[in-house]
Amino acid sequence: MTRRVGLLGWPVAHSRSPTIFAHWFERYGIDARYELLPVQPEALKAFFRQFDEMGFDGLNVTVPHKISAAAFVDLDPVGRRLGSINTVWREDGRLRATSSDGAGFIASLDEQAPAWRSAENALVLGAGGASIAVCDALITAGLDVAVANRRAQRAELLVGRVGGHAVPWESVPGLLPRADLLVNTTSLGMEGNQPLDIDLAPLPAHAVVADIVYNPLHTPLLQEAAARGLATVDGLGMLIHQATVGFEKWFGHRPEVDAALREKVLATL
Ligand code: ATR
Repeated sequence: MTRRVGLLGWPVAHSRSPTIFAHWFERYGIDARYELLPVQPEALKAFFRQFDEMGFDGLNVTVPHKISAAAFVDLDPVGRRLGSINTVWREDGRLRATSSDGAGFIASLDEQAPAWRSAENALVLGAGGASIAVCDALITAGLDVAVANRRAQRAELLVGRVGGHAVPWESVPGLLPRADLLVNTTSLGMEGNQPLDIDLAPLPAHAVVADIVYNPLHTPLLQEAAARGLATVDGLGMLIHQATVGFEKWFGHRPEVDAALREKVLATL
């Protein structure tokens, strides 16, 4: 019987997840469908009430439901810390859930710049939904994390939730010399947006620069970092690796993230 998993969101039409999962279903010969489930916020409660009868093994969850869906599932420790989820699976007759963005980010660092494991101090720019997952994962990995956000209050809220310390947006240039890892989680550098305007000269030579923006793949920030000979990590890695968590929960093994998959996802951008 064809197994069913899907993506719950509103809207969901532009998601790259169907491309990612189709690649793995073909690669591993799995008879399964990854379905788009557009559900309006007002209909979320009814969706979860009916979910058991719908015949799904699991779900990914995207905007605007990542926080509100957490009320309908049993959260793992990461989901509880973040108060936000993106992956739901069945376990012992219950619906369990986590947020896989942080694990995806760490896997992407491991893949593209393994030297990050020597880092002690991270400087994270931005304090939105993606940033909190990134910060939580870095703190859990033992790093000291400083978070700078244009609107300082959001950085304060973030560190109140997961730890680390908030630093003023204006202090970023002065903090670069002690940053072993610099991460952009803002939307600056994304297609159609302003670039992130920071002079990377003060970064140490061993610094790793990561961007979670994946469109374009080589953001102005990553281009400057590469030109300076620094190790770089692009945003496509996090996008793909976060999906491996759901696949493993639903189908029992961690799928490979290979060059062919990266090419397929890049072709959709
Ligand atoms: P996501 O959930 O993807 O992180 P988000 O919650 O909209 O998206 O967060 C976007 C991030 O980009 C925020 O940190 C935002 O800063 P503010 O909280 O101050 O809005 C940041 N950002 C967007 N445009 C920016 C700009 N022009 N300058 C600095 N930061 C910007």
